[in-house]
Amino acid sequence: MYRTHTCGELRLSDTGKRVTLCGWVQRTRDLGGMTFIDLRDRYGITQLVFSMETNPELCEKARELGREYVVQVTGMVRERSNKNFRIPTGEIEIEAEGIKVLNSSELPPFTIEDDTDGGEELRMKFRYLDLRRPCLRDNILLRHRAAREVRKYLDSQGFIEIETPMLIKSTPEGARDFVVPSRLQPGMFYALPQSPQTFKQLLMVAGFDKYFQIVRCFRDEDLRADRQPEFTQIDCEMSFVEQNDVLETFEGLAKHLFREIKGVEFTEPFPRLSWKEAMERFGTDKPDMRFGMEIKDITCIVKGKGFGMFDNAEYVGGICAEGCSEYSRRQTDELTEFVKRPQIGAQGLVVIKYNSDGTVKSSLEKFYSNEELQGLMRHINATPGSLVLIIAGNREKTLAALSELRLEMGNRLGLRKSDTFCPLWVVDFPLLEWDEETKRFYARHHPFTSPKPEDIDLLESAPAEVRANAYDLVINGIEIGGGSIRIHDSATQKLLFKVLGFTEEEAVSQFGFLINAFRYGAPPHGGIAFGFDRWVALLAGEESIRDVIAFPKNNSGRDIMIDTPSPISQQQLDELLIEIKRRNSQY
Ligand code: AMO
Repeated sequence: MYRTHTCGELRLSDTGKRVTLCGWVQRTRDLGGMTFIDLRDRYGITQLVFSMETNPELCEKARELGREYVVQVTGMVRERSNKNFRIPTGEIEIEAEGIKVLNSSELPPFTIEDDTDGGEELRMKFRYLDLRRPCLRDNILLRHRAAREVRKYLDSQGFIEIETPMLIKSTPEGARDFVVPSRLQPGMFYALPQSPQTFKQLLMVAGFDKYFQIVRCFRDEDLRADRQPEFTQIDCEMSFVEQNDVLETFEGLAKHLFREIKGVEFTEPFPRLSWKEAMERFGTDKPDMRFGMEIKDITCIVKGKGFGMFDNAEYVGGICAEGCSEYSRRQTDELTEFVKRPQIGAQGLVVIKYNSDGTVKSSLEKFYSNEELQGLMRHINATPGSLVLIIAGNREKTLAALSELRLEMGNRLGLRKSDTFCPLWVVDFPLLEWDEETKRFYARHHPFTSPKPEDIDLLESAPAEVRANAYDLVINGIEIGGGSIRIHDSATQKLLFKVLGFTEEEAVSQFGFLINAFRYGAPPHGGIAFGFDRWVALLAGEESIRDVIAFPKNNSGRDIMIDTPSPISQQQLDELLIEIKRRNSQY
């Protein structure tokens, strides 16, 4: 037996016990006649003490141990005179009697502590060392607990976990597929699933009624802090349900997770906001509800007074940042620079200071009387002491810019606290999205999403107006999950394919298996999928999902530890009948 206890286990009540521990040497400290070692494993840290007086030979041996050596130590548990109440084992130490080096270690390339000196690149290359750091280890443990709670809750609600294939068929909708060449049928390709969408619907046709799966999905898209090329979904589907049944079931899952993982109790139902309202009030379909500062449409109020920037705009909107009327010129210039960044793309920013004494100061004074500006302050519900920030332009882009500005002000004012959670459902998404480039409509969610029955008549006459039976769970401005009620009758499905510009043959060649299955008694059904990585990152208080994934890819989709993607041998290529085209620049 290697050990009797772990490094996180011993307490004052264990005093006097002879124990054996195994772990990694976190730190060695020599204090004259005594040597202290912090021994670390997954469970915690225990202090070992070696005395020059009682056992000089052992003490010498301890002094020679390097960082990250793997050792086995036997000794007696004793009460510490200098207690450390910041760690659970901080009241005891082990008076060492014997030590065995199980393995030595090269000097690690960065310090293995929460506050490390290793940059991101280096830590990714040595991810197995990075994962020894307590903060990352705790994230991985939290992820495990969250997965366990998901399974526990869904099992209690009658859901069963069913695996679906990883090698599937490429379809042109959605993000780009990752493809896998077939050796047995050279020239043919599988695709890795972007989600198990069609399979879970087939499982409903098969009568399984309630399905879930914690499943890996693959999307070849540009990466960001909340996107990985391979990520994990909690994928779910239910039969004989309407939208409200799905929302209630999964609101239950969200509440269960918050209760079990964070000790946070939500007693009220999550608010529900239509997509339209979310866009109007927050400029985004994933509003951060931890703070107000809602966007106000002031187009009608400000137009027609001779101020070109407003007069020529399709839309003028503003937000009101309370307590910011004292902002300096430098600070307001920073905000103007912020909204003019190419990724935000506003033409400019109009700043109005609504001073604490009720006076209004801005560059608009040439065009608007004092009464008009006071009226504007009332319309926007501004309170004295606020800074009112206004952007004008194309409606969609201006709302998006105001949304970014609102988040920026939320950050500046410390209103986006990571330990506050504000979930909401965004519902009634538009079914279709027009693409200017290809001049056609795309399914906003996917082509099996059901239109709202009352909007079906608009499908051919006014497709952009049709609302979907689709919903997203948004928490703190993050899209945690999304789903929909599906189309289960072939007439509506046919009509939708037509609106999407699919010929009958195209629809059959891409989704024939599903269309066929629906001929054999498809039950009404619907579901949802949650981004598990995003959810865990939120619960862990992390900004990036990389910090809750054991072996993530970097921003260019590379795993620099195993060095992939990488070339394959000529023999492998030959077997697959694949020839690599070189870019001109490589010759
Ligand atoms: P959707 O495409 O909205 O829906 O995906 C569901 C959730 O998955 C997460 N997500 C991601 N997380 C990390 N990296 C990515 N690249 C990534 N892409 C998506 C998001 C998102 O809300 N089959 C449908 C669901 C359904 O209709 O039931 C689907 O996949 O949190």
